Amino acid sequence: MSAVNRNFSPTIIREAANSFGTPLYLYDEAAIRNAFLHWHQAPSKHSVLTCYAVKANSNIAILQLLSRLGAGFDIVSQGELERVLHAGGKPERIVFSGVGKSSEAIARALEVGIKCFNVESIRELDHINTVAAEKETKAKVSLRINPDVDAKTHPYISTGLKANKFGISHEEAVTAYQYACSLPQLEVIGIDCHIGSQITELEPFLASLDKLLVLIDQLADVGIDIRHLDLGGGLGICYTNEQVPSAESYIAAVSDKLANRELEIVFEPGRSIVANAGILITEVILSKENTGKHFAIVDAAMNDLMRPALYQGHHHIDVVAGPRKLEASEHCWDIVGPVCETGDFLGLNRQLSIAERDLLVIHSAGAYGFTMSSNYNSRPRCAEVLLREDQLVEIRSREVITDLFAHEHLLAE
Ligand code: LLP
Repeated sequence: MSAVNRNFSPTIIREAANSFGTPLYLYDEAAIRNAFLHWHQAPSKHSVLTCYAVKANSNIAILQLLSRLGAGFDIVSQGELERVLHAGGKPERIVFSGVGKSSEAIARALEVGIKCFNVESIRELDHINTVAAEKETKAKVSLRINPDVDAKTHPYISTGLKANKFGISHEEAVTAYQYACSLPQLEVIGIDCHIGSQITELEPFLASLDKLLVLIDQLADVGIDIRHLDLGGGLGICYTNEQVPSAESYIAAVSDKLANRELEIVFEPGRSIVANAGILITEVILSKENTGKHFAIVDAAMNDLMRPALYQGHHHIDVVAGPRKLEASEHCWDIVGPVCETGDFLGLNRQLSIAERDLLVIHSAGAYGFTMSSNYNSRPRCAEVLLREDQLVEIRSREVITDLFAHEHLLAE
């Protein structure tokens, strides 16, 4: 799949910007559905549950759409849990990941009956056991194993190395499982790992799988039966020209390795479902030249899309010409926002023909775009709009200025 989604025609982009203003996130329902169905309908000898990673894009309309298609969900907080429930997600298809789950979140997840907790440490086994005892119930758990595999991705989004904070080390795994089985309020049902994000080859996933399979056999030897295997998320997408394996080829490779084992497979894809279904539309406010360098100053900024500033994330950028008063000029442009930080850029050194009032389209922005946005520099967050067939439907309104301090309090005197 290419980074450029052809359903977003210049006409649709202009219409969206005229109706809802800029900066604006625009998502394509058909692209989300297609991407999800690549996972959900992939042929496999084993039963597969696709638990969409809510953190990638947590708009409730998108969760609703995915839930209606049969998705499960991977959550990391009570906020994400409540979003999923509000959107109609089924508790029995929810897995709860994350290194530090709060007691309140655990209690609520137990109350609604989620599929399982992905437990990240021995201390967390105690924690969940205690909350389950208070609730007079049993918690289903899966242990997240850190397989110590190099996912060959950006260090900030690599999670399966020994040096990372995530999971229980491979060496401690059997002991941790035995301990989990000794706790009265826990029911051990699965094994889990997640090695990182934006992974563009299958090899690191399959290397982790090999390690987990060895572990599953060791656990069977000590009488611990594993019913599901959760391989986490992480499958990459095309931002520039990456050739990424399809969900189908990944699932087929996993299912082949499982052969005759009776295991349910769980995946937690986020980016691969929504990234290329979304764009960020921004308007060029000013163009500026500083000692030969050309800057297009746009109305979106690092607070709207953090990825370039945080990970040097590259997003393809196109121009949709506006009502040009000045000649557009082709240069090597830096596309920058109005925020007072040098790191506030959306793209550097882009050879483009740009004039003020043009719209720029920042591609592959559907994942970790809006969800990572903030109000830095007291900028209201963007609206989000969904393209459904040929209709533009607002799924989150633009924040207004008074939203910015709605939860703050002036002093009495
Ligand atoms: N499962 C777990 C436990 C995770 O931590 C993550 C992502 C996923 C699933 C989904 O991974 P995906 O399929 O989306 O790669 N903000 C960064 C990405 C951080 C990923 C964090 N964990 C970015 O914009 O690149």
